Amino acid sequence: MLLLHESLGSPIVGVVCCKVDPFRESSDEEIKIGQISMLAVRSDRTNKGYGTQLMEEAEHRLLELGCKYASLDLLQPAEWQHDVKTWLAQWYERLGYK
Ligand SMILES: CC(C)(COP(=O)(O)OP(=O)(O)OC[C@H]1O[C@@H](n2cnc3c(N)ncnc32)[C@H](O)[C@@H]1OP(=O)(O)O)[C@@H](O)C(=O)NCCC(=O)NCCS
Repeated sequence: MLLLHESLGSPIVGVVCCKVDPFRESSDEEIKIGQISMLAVRSDRTNKGYGTQLMEEAEHRLLELGCKYASLDLLQPAEWQHDVKTWLAQWYERLGYK
C-alpha cells in the first residue's frame, strides 16, 4: 500500500495498492502480472496530479517486483452509462491501460 503525503508529517492525501497478481496468470510462467487497486485521492485534493503520481509510483514498484504488465479492474454497469466510470475509463486509457 502506498500512501501519499503533500509534505512530511502532513495528512494522507492519496492511496493506492499494488502487488503481484496471484490469480492472473500469463501463458509464459516467467512473466509476472501486477495488480493495481484501491486508488483514491482525497476529494479536496483532486486535479493536482496526485492520482497520476500514485499510478506511476505503483507501476514503478511493480517493475521492481519483476512485473512486465499491470492490470486493474474498473467495474461499470452493464445496462446504463455511469458518467464518472466513463471518465475513469478514459483517464486510465490516457495512462496507457486498455
Ligand atoms: C480517480 C482519482 C484517483 C484521480 O485523482 P486525481 O488526483 O484527481 O488525478 P490527476 O490530478 O492525476 O488527474 C485528474 C485529471 O482528470 C480530470 N478530471 C477530474 N475529474 C473529472 C471528471 N469528473 N470528469 C472529467 N475529467 C475529470 C482532471 O481535469 C485532470 O485532467 P488532466 O490530467 O488533463 O489535468 C480521483 O478522482 C479519485 O480518488 N476518485 C474517487 C475514487 C476512484 O474512483 N478511484 C478509482 C477506482 S477504479
